[in-house]
Amino acid sequence: MLKKSVITLVGTGALVGAGIMAYGLPVTASAADVAKLAHECNECHGKDGNSTHPEVPNIAGYSATYLHDQLMNYKNGDRPGVKFKDDDGEEKDMNEVAKELSEDDINALADYYSKKTFKSHASEQETDPKLVKRGEKLFKHKCKKCHDDFGTDPDDDAGILGGQWMKYIRHQFKMFHEGEREMPKKMKKKFKKLKEADYEAIINALGSK
Ligand code: HEC
Ligand code: HEC
Repeated sequence: MLKKSVITLVGTGALVGAGIMAYGLPVTASAADVAKLAHECNECHGKDGNSTHPEVPNIAGYSATYLHDQLMNYKNGDRPGVKFKDDDGEEKDMNEVAKELSEDDINALADYYSKKTFKSHASEQETDPKLVKRGEKLFKHKCKKCHDDFGTDPDDDAGILGGQWMKYIRHQFKMFHEGEREMPKKMKKKFKKLKEADYEAIINALGSK
């Protein structure tokens, strides 16, 4: 791509120099490249990153920092992904997906999805009002400090929990519980104190937002 632009610039003397200089600069994905990359993500994550599959989280409206960090975690293998078949029937997990991305791609995608709007799934999933009430109390007490407004504030750089698919959150709870996914030390302290029966209460509370 860069080569082509240098060729087309030949003939305008001053610009040839500028084109060659571009080799020394970090290559960033262009808007067209990002849209192409995002098209593949959306085959699992849904239009604009709002997923229609309960196993696949929305990624729209997340902070760019969180998106960047998680994609790097998947790429490095620090966070294990779960296999899933995309809309074309191709099965992949996030580790395979992220390995194909350069860090520039990751930065561009993180910026792209941070500008989309998160759509809550509250009206599409059933929650138990009793569990919701109990979960809200637990969450305010133990989790709110880092996940404000039931985890709907992207600036916490801790994902978006309120309105997320419950099936996705339930699976992440399981991975945290079994130590398959690392969590921040201070979160671990609070999480370990939850009884397993508390999990479903919190998951219902988050699913209802
Ligand atoms: C084959 C399906 C598939 C494709 C393609 C895919 N994802 Fe995912 N993604 C998933 C699934 C399933 C999860 C949740 C399970 C897990 O942790 O692996 C997930 C999780 C994530 C998460 C973590 C969200 C969170 O709340 O922590 C991010 C970020 C993400 N994907 C970004 C992307 C981006 C960006 C692309 C495109 C480059 C992409 N995904 C392509 C299936 C896919
Ligand atoms: C000290 C701050 C802190 C506390 C307290 C905390 N968390 Fe977190 N949480 C985080 C951060 C930071 C992340 C991002 C994790 C990462 O970097 O992998 C996170 C991630 C998560 C995720 C995964 C989000 C996703 O999109 O995959 C869930 C679920 C979660 N926290 C639930 C909880 C629950 C439930 C509690 C209360 C028992 C809690 N957290 C308490 C900081 C905290």
